[in-house]
Amino acid sequence: MSELEHHDYDVIIIGAGGAGLRAAIEAKTRGLKVALVCKSLLGKAHTVMAEGGVAAAMGNVYAEDNWKVHFRDTMRGGKMLNHWRMAQLHAQESPDRVQELEAWGALFDRTKDGKILQRDFGGHRFARLAHVGDRTGLELIRTLQQKAVSMDIDVFMECKVIRLTTGSDGAVNGAVAYWRPTGEFVTFGAKAVVLATGGVGKSWKYTSNSWESTGDGHAIALWAGAGLIDMECVQFHPTGMVWPLSVRGILVTEGVRGDGGVLRNSDGKRFMFEYVADMFRAETAESEEEADKWYDDHTAGRRPPELLPRDEVARSINSEVKAGRGSPHGGVFLDIASRRTAEDIRKRLPSMYHQFMELAGVDITREAMEVGPTCHYIMGGVQVEPDTAATAVPGLFAAGEVAGGMHGSNRLGGNSLSDLLVFGRRAGLGAADYVEGLSGGNTAMDATLVQEYIDEALEPFSRDEGENPYDLQYELQEMMQANVGIIRTQSELDYALEKLDEFKERAGRLAIKGGRVYNPGWNLATDLPSMLTVSTCVAQGARDRKESRGGQTREDFPKADPEFGKINFVQRQPAGGSFADEIKISPEPLPEMPEELMAIFEEANK
Ligand code: FUM
Repeated sequence: MSELEHHDYDVIIIGAGGAGLRAAIEAKTRGLKVALVCKSLLGKAHTVMAEGGVAAAMGNVYAEDNWKVHFRDTMRGGKMLNHWRMAQLHAQESPDRVQELEAWGALFDRTKDGKILQRDFGGHRFARLAHVGDRTGLELIRTLQQKAVSMDIDVFMECKVIRLTTGSDGAVNGAVAYWRPTGEFVTFGAKAVVLATGGVGKSWKYTSNSWESTGDGHAIALWAGAGLIDMECVQFHPTGMVWPLSVRGILVTEGVRGDGGVLRNSDGKRFMFEYVADMFRAETAESEEEADKWYDDHTAGRRPPELLPRDEVARSINSEVKAGRGSPHGGVFLDIASRRTAEDIRKRLPSMYHQFMELAGVDITREAMEVGPTCHYIMGGVQVEPDTAATAVPGLFAAGEVAGGMHGSNRLGGNSLSDLLVFGRRAGLGAADYVEGLSGGNTAMDATLVQEYIDEALEPFSRDEGENPYDLQYELQEMMQANVGIIRTQSELDYALEKLDEFKERAGRLAIKGGRVYNPGWNLATDLPSMLTVSTCVAQGARDRKESRGGQTREDFPKADPEFGKINFVQRQPAGGSFADEIKISPEPLPEMPEELMAIFEEANK
């Protein structure tokens, strides 16, 4: 191990999106030696894809808004599968996190009287999303990055972590990684590790996620002995581009609907009125006239059906397309042109304007967009203790999309940027407290284990003939899209699990030609074990949750089942596991919500 590049830190943070940056800032503020390790270039995280805003009950547009309403909206949006404590902390702390971001230099859009402007998004009772046009995630990353760089936090870019290591006490003590450009290995000894690696979308064919989202954090946590919860709950954002095919899946922000955009089918009908679930009927407008009043005064009108939570809207679009009322390229129409002036659209939705103009030749100030569901986010993730973001593995923490529990079975738009600020900070704090509480801390990594993990990653070079990683990735994405997509059935899930077993077996026979320097085939070969692991977790959970709830829709069990509403599914492997090993899944009772929080729902139902 002496020839390996090695670094020692108090805390390493894996992933440099919003959660990772926010965790790093917090741990560094405590005077610890902190490093950020990210697979991509700094500033390129999926955080930028949360375009429309960050949800925080600041009450700048509607003074009636407060954390209790935000808490209630979040729990209802997640169909009550959320960890109540995470939803509570999130609702209570997100206003402070947004104000803090502003103090660090974020330039939010403004109300006429100079407050941070807030826009509408699905499932939020009040206009609640602080935003910067439709580039909010980008501004958030820019601000946090500037702050982190000013604090001299060490950054290791284009450096992919393949494994976590644990000591004889079971605590995490480091990570094994390699530099993507050179293929050289590097190890990080760490007293604490924060996972902030984002999501898993690249296992599906149509996704808003970029190449990084291969579920690395979910997988390395599971292999190290942490639990994953509710992995079946995957969010298909209702509006991705559907045409041209080369850009299918790219996000069309919910901000378009938040700002008044409406969905129509091929008959020109505003079809969402037909799809209002009982749970939302009382608060949803019944006619176009009534819906339009909402934009003038939320305290008088009822919400337009286009602003139902994402799971509801995505399923409705799916049904319209299936019924033959879709757009020419298999989506539906999203119309903002007839609802806002061209000047307004260009000002409030500049990225959407350019995206459609450049990629599809569509002028959204004059024409409707063609849109359809795209895999956007996973609600499931690493099981954490809400206040500290600690996992079951001592010294291992998780925040942001890689962590589960906060959003239940369906996330409300805008709640991810606030999630990663609130829990990124808490993970940084949790890791710092943990490190300070250690007597010494053991960062001596087991050299034999490290070598084993390196050999495992290099194994595809040992074969002249074998499986091509691109073929396997292609087949995986096609298979997940077709069988573990927006609507699921028992037979499709059984088939998916059989195929995943076959893919895993083939992944054990990958063959890579050439050397380690700039070898994208090998880079993909190191991603596939994570992709196969998370895909298996999603398919297993979807098979066992025999009900429909949020991001888990079973055609054969179309209703939510109150008994399943009482449990999270948790998946585990013994520490030291791998993609080839069995994953155990078991139900665990949801944590019980205290009475004072239950009263918030009772109050609202009066
Ligand atoms: O539609 C959007 O702008 C995405 C936001 C989010 O996922 O929170």
